[in-house]
Amino acid sequence: MNVPLLDLTAQYGPIKDDVLAAMISVVERQRFILGEEVVALEEAIATLSGVRRAVSVASGTDALLLPLKLLDLKPGDEVIVPSFTFFASAGAVVNAGGVPVFVDIDPGTFNVTAASVEAAITPRTRAIIVVHLFGQMAPMDDLVPLSANRGIPLIEDAAQSIGARRKVEGSWRVAGEMGWVGTLSFFPTKNLGGYGDGGMILTQDTVLADRLARYRRHGGAKDYHHDEVGTNSRLDTLQAAVLLAKLPSLASWSAARRERALRYSESLVQIPEVTPPVVDQANEHIFHQFTIRAERRDTLKKFLADRGIGTGVYYRVPLHQQPCFAGLAEGKPPLVMTDQAAREVLSLPVYPELTDAQQDWVIESIRAF
Ligand SMILES: Cc1ncc(COP(=O)(O)O)c(C=O)c1O
Repeated sequence: MNVPLLDLTAQYGPIKDDVLAAMISVVERQRFILGEEVVALEEAIATLSGVRRAVSVASGTDALLLPLKLLDLKPGDEVIVPSFTFFASAGAVVNAGGVPVFVDIDPGTFNVTAASVEAAITPRTRAIIVVHLFGQMAPMDDLVPLSANRGIPLIEDAAQSIGARRKVEGSWRVAGEMGWVGTLSFFPTKNLGGYGDGGMILTQDTVLADRLARYRRHGGAKDYHHDEVGTNSRLDTLQAAVLLAKLPSLASWSAARRERALRYSESLVQIPEVTPPVVDQANEHIFHQFTIRAERRDTLKKFLADRGIGTGVYYRVPLHQQPCFAGLAEGKPPLVMTDQAAREVLSLPVYPELTDAQQDWVIESIRAF
């Protein structure tokens, strides 16, 4: 049986009419840049994420880069970031003029801990990037006070965790809501994916939001008037229209992913060869990825591929091992949990349209292995 890691064509069928109507409407009005759908999407995502403002940009990478640029980093200024994440989290730091300082993760949740972040703080630390990896939030209960007490801005990279929630001091808080800024990606494979690149910056700070909204259009609120040197990083109106058409389905898609994840965990926990992911009890996980551990990961991956099952390895080479960051880890503590995760992780198909029969085939195949 064929079970792809992700099947966006299965998602497209039921929403096709809505998405196409939204796209045609934009084309008929010919408002391709900062059109009304962009404003409507920003308002809808701000509401969903519990923030005062959401500023859309051209990608999740730019959503990290633009706020980092506003920090005006000087040579040698450091930004703390996990090594076990997608490249953009650290690439944006370098592109903003900073030095990434990599920290280790909790082996259960794959997220950073307040202790690992605190140990990496130096007098040169100018920001902390926390990644809510695979769909569940990092321990913001400890990270927010840490950043506040030290006066270091906290950036929540929520590219993989749109709408994920965590109980903090008795109330539900949404990914991206508690930091100086939160960032989202609308890359097509994300839980809310566009039909191209896109991203968003979330913040409670309306002055900052106004500045970011100018920065993404060359630093000016009006055409041909520039308060500062910004860049061109706008979300296309067409992408905003697609995302608005998809947004009403997001909650049910995330719930379906959670159901699939629970079904996997209940079966896989009985198979000693693999370890299902840990869900922090305070979290409502949205399972962008369902990532197991297996000591014989690559053999298992091949075995599943031979049975028609797609899997992914996020992340095979952690960032502190990347050639472009060679030397940054020198003299720093080893990232033991990160290196182990990179050897063992395997992400299984967990998309909302995955059928019971397909999922049973994945589980049976892991058992057979
Ligand atoms: C954790 C994380 N941060 C940042 C990004 C960058 O987003 P984009 O691909 O939209 O630039 C991604 C996307 O893959 C991501 O997974």
